Amino acid sequence: NANGRLVEVMPSLVRHLHAFAREVNLTVAEWIAAVDFINECGKMSDDRRNETQLLCDIVGLESLVDEITSKMLATSTTETPSAILGPFYRHDAPLLPNGSSIVQNLTPSVPWYEQAVADSAFVSGRVLTSSGTPIKGAIVDVWHAAPNGLYEQQDESQPDMNFRGRFETDAAGCYAFYALRPVPYPIPDDGPAGKLLGLLDRHPYRPGHIHFMVSAPEFRPLTTQLYDDRDEYITNDAVFSVKDELVVKFTPRKGDPNARWSLKYDFVLGRE
Ligand code: DHB
Ligand code: FE
Repeated sequence: NANGRLVEVMPSLVRHLHAFAREVNLTVAEWIAAVDFINECGKMSDDRRNETQLLCDIVGLESLVDEITSKMLATSTTETPSAILGPFYRHDAPLLPNGSSIVQNLTPSVPWYEQAVADSAFVSGRVLTSSGTPIKGAIVDVWHAAPNGLYEQQDESQPDMNFRGRFETDAAGCYAFYALRPVPYPIPDDGPAGKLLGLLDRHPYRPGHIHFMVSAPEFRPLTTQLYDDRDEYITNDAVFSVKDELVVKFTPRKGDPNARWSLKYDFVLGRE
């Protein structure tokens, strides 16, 4: 039970915390500064911003527990690798027909209109079992940031649920939607976590990425991200979440007025 697990992990946590304090000769003043820092992160956190999670992310903790969890639960070697959830997932993204767009209200009056057109992309593929059988009725939940580097809930100027959607795979296991090639952007760096990055002389950028949460009955839900291989931060992610298998190539798309680029990607789910 959960209590048993707590009794199992706490002695180890205490042992490592003590070893850390001894190793660096941690002083009372430094410990108080750390408590204040964590309190600041907590005070800043709400539905729209999770500063404590951000703090974990910049020291690689979320990507580490993601790695540990996926290794522990994997039932085959062909499953698509997972990646961190990140702080900007929203439940209840609109369920959209395959082939529709998650880009809302894109008009020339939008400041990043030109870039959005240049980066317009058709994303499609299948959801498969580890032996390659298509999964019908899987839900592909997708979200990405705008070309200004902001997710919709961080940005008053974007419509609600912009760049978010859920798609259901058809009988052949296929999903398809229009989106944008993602751009690199800084994680929110105006709070304590960003201040820490600055003090450590680290940059706050994540490589451009599209988030996915893929689920189907009887399969383990997959939370992952795809990374655009054009991106210079691919080898230098501020939150350490890139995996080689998740780096993708967008190819030029001909004859489609709605997209300049194509991306094909199949997701492989593991059994529950
Ligand atoms: C983090 C992850 C993201 O996907 C993102 O867009 C911003 C921040 C993070 O891990 O902190
Ligand atoms: Fe993200």
